[in-house]
Amino acid sequence: MFKPEVYKSRRENLKKMLGQGVYLFLGNNETPMNYPANAYHFRQDSTFLYFYGLNLPGMAAVIDPENDKDIIFANDVDIDDIIWMGPQPYVKDLAQKCLVNETHPFAKLADYLAEAVKKGRKIHFLPPYKHDNMILLNELLGIKFADMKSSASLDFIKAVVKLRNVKEQVEIEEIERACEIGYLMHTAAMKMVKPGMVEREIAGMMEGISLSYGAVPSFPIILTKNGQTLHNHEHGNVLKTGDLMLQDAGAQTPMFYASDNTRTVPVGGRFSQKQKEIYNCVLGAINGSIKLMKPGVTYLDVHLSACEILANGLKDLGLMKGNVKEAVQLGAHALFMPHGLGHMMGLDVHDMEDLGQINVGYDEKIQPSSIFGTAFLRLGRELEPGFVLTNEPGIYFIPELIDIWKKENKFAEYINYAKVEEYRDFGGIRLEDDILITETGSRILGEKRIPISVEEVENIMN
Ligand code: GLY
Ligand code: MN
Repeated sequence: MFKPEVYKSRRENLKKMLGQGVYLFLGNNETPMNYPANAYHFRQDSTFLYFYGLNLPGMAAVIDPENDKDIIFANDVDIDDIIWMGPQPYVKDLAQKCLVNETHPFAKLADYLAEAVKKGRKIHFLPPYKHDNMILLNELLGIKFADMKSSASLDFIKAVVKLRNVKEQVEIEEIERACEIGYLMHTAAMKMVKPGMVEREIAGMMEGISLSYGAVPSFPIILTKNGQTLHNHEHGNVLKTGDLMLQDAGAQTPMFYASDNTRTVPVGGRFSQKQKEIYNCVLGAINGSIKLMKPGVTYLDVHLSACEILANGLKDLGLMKGNVKEAVQLGAHALFMPHGLGHMMGLDVHDMEDLGQINVGYDEKIQPSSIFGTAFLRLGRELEPGFVLTNEPGIYFIPELIDIWKKENKFAEYINYAKVEEYRDFGGIRLEDDILITETGSRILGEKRIPISVEEVENIMN
């Protein structure tokens, strides 16, 4: 955990922003595989971690500024638990680690809230994403399941987002740690991949590296020769010379901060000319967009600029045609990149997606687009110092999407479908770095950038 004052100060800042009412924080519970004592690895809710730092199941907390209350509700373990799990700290001692002085058994939470509801007080809670917490909220506050998201407190969401979006120095250091582990995972994969290997051998090794540093993967590893499928978790293919292998993975440190990087490498150690050409378009987009990232610039503009760089490259190769700016505005490039340029990252790899993309990545000034491709951009708002986000352009040839667009002759003014056919088995290329917005610009997180130029990639592979 961070120093106890870190958590206290975050709660004080929250109070200043949110004002009156009762703020309710629900931690996560164990998720059984088939019976309660055989559970999946526990992962605390990230907002609970942010304000309390305690990675234990069965906890809730309340801040009640009008009554000057800051309480953790949780039960001490009993002897049955100790027999199986070993000695465990008391809740009151755990609470000291985040400077909370008052603790009560979990059952008292219902009484506390009932009393507040009776007085007509506002109970602020965040949108639940786990079914057990939905059941609990239904029991505690009588909220219908269908109304849970809409009844969540928008003021609470906005205050949490405002705090968590801007990373503190201690958080940046922790994300850098995640990047260091990610660096080791990615470079080991680049050195390991050889024709004849099965994808899972490399994915398993990457996961093993994260575990050996007390970390875990920050999301299920994507490692595939079919990179045109954006979130491909299948690891059963044999790799052969000439394939492209896309590796999208990161680490979650023991303090729960994430990294998220992607590289695409040629199996056999050398890019073909055709691969090199597409690769350099994506490389141009990632390097070009990082240069634009600084406070005051909207990420929507960075996204659109990256797409223009991609589209210009595709035009040079004869895959696109016409006015590039116009093509991107209309969304023609989305045949090749049907996703957003990046997303916030922190305690969650897609930071705070539980609080709603529109609340995290957008604001009154910048609203999400409804155009296919750009609509999937998770972050459009103006960049601020302390934001940590990923930058991940890609070019993909998705045969099913090509067939649909081609049949409709969609954006025929901007897309050369005859040329696209020559690439239908190409696969996909994505490159992803983690970026910190500084006072004056931006920088790539991690001590060293994971090899990325054609030369660097080929060198490390050989
Ligand atoms: N790296 C996976 C994702 O950003 O969706
Ligand atoms: Mn990502």
